[in-house]
Amino acid sequence: MLKELDKLEKTFREQLLAVDSADALEKLRVEYLGRKGKLSEIMKRLGDLAPRERPGVGKRANELKQGFEAAVKERAAVLKTVSEARRAAFDPTLPGIPLRVGHRHLIMRTIEEMVDIFQRLGFDVAYGPEVEDSWHNFEALNIPPDHPAADPNNSFFIDDTTILRTQTSPVQVRVMEKQPPPIRVVVPGRTYRPDTVDASHSFMFHQLEGLMVDEGVTFGHLKAVLHLFVQEYFSPQTRMRLRPHFFPFTEPSAELDIACSICAGLGCATCGNKGWLEVLGCGMVDPNVFKAVGIDPERYTGFAFGFGIERPAMLKHGIHDMRLLFENDVRFLAQF
Ligand code: DAH
Repeated sequence: MLKELDKLEKTFREQLLAVDSADALEKLRVEYLGRKGKLSEIMKRLGDLAPRERPGVGKRANELKQGFEAAVKERAAVLKTVSEARRAAFDPTLPGIPLRVGHRHLIMRTIEEMVDIFQRLGFDVAYGPEVEDSWHNFEALNIPPDHPAADPNNSFFIDDTTILRTQTSPVQVRVMEKQPPPIRVVVPGRTYRPDTVDASHSFMFHQLEGLMVDEGVTFGHLKAVLHLFVQEYFSPQTRMRLRPHFFPFTEPSAELDIACSICAGLGCATCGNKGWLEVLGCGMVDPNVFKAVGIDPERYTGFAFGFGIERPAMLKHGIHDMRLLFENDVRFLAQF
């Protein structure tokens, strides 16, 4: 019986340590010290013992009873202290931990804003591959192999005929291959050139291409669409001009400038004292491009334009260094 009491003490102590609430403690107390508890059950059998064993076992059982009672009290005090401390530490009036919510990158938002302007003018959105074959990127766009743009040093080559596209213009070709006129699309996307990274250059940047092909499309339509775009994206007061230029895939071609938004056309460091900022290239689709995709240049005419997305976004938001857009410092990105 003494052995039984030893075992009882051991299990009681173990269970007591695991008790972590007042309810669990009360259960344990009843289990061991209650009228039908484990200790009482043993004491009831004292009478079965030989008379000379009784006093020793009885004494031990009484000690256990007192020991158990004291231990239960002590545990109750500990639990009380812990729960009070917890309650004191929890202040329901404190503000919660704010969740950091992200948003789309400025470049993606700019693309959406620009695409939205063209969609309101009836343009669809098309996409093309960033890994492109040189026929779509150069030859089909009337860019001869000896043109500087087609120089292997000016593009990232995958193999002899595969490159990372240097412009979104190859998607003009892909759209015209798939779809007969009338065509009205804009094409946003990433483009790649092996340029050294600085405040206004990056080996990867974004462009937006536009193409409209139908019977009777004129340079006047091109000018009207671009004018509306400039007014919507920059401001209704922004002045623009079209300056003759050359692109192999358009004839005639032009570059569009807007009056410098920093100096209002007076001349400053941003515009290199010119008063104008170059924004995009454009022109009437060259008949050779139509021939490459099997569209009859006698029947159809079209215009195309293309521009980098970073620069207008930087102008509009007063960002002076393109690298900021790609370094992914959230302290910068969170501002837009
Ligand atoms: N692809 C030209 C570039 O990357 C931009 C461009 C100029 C696109 C004239 C056009 C265009 O569609 O007609 O510099």
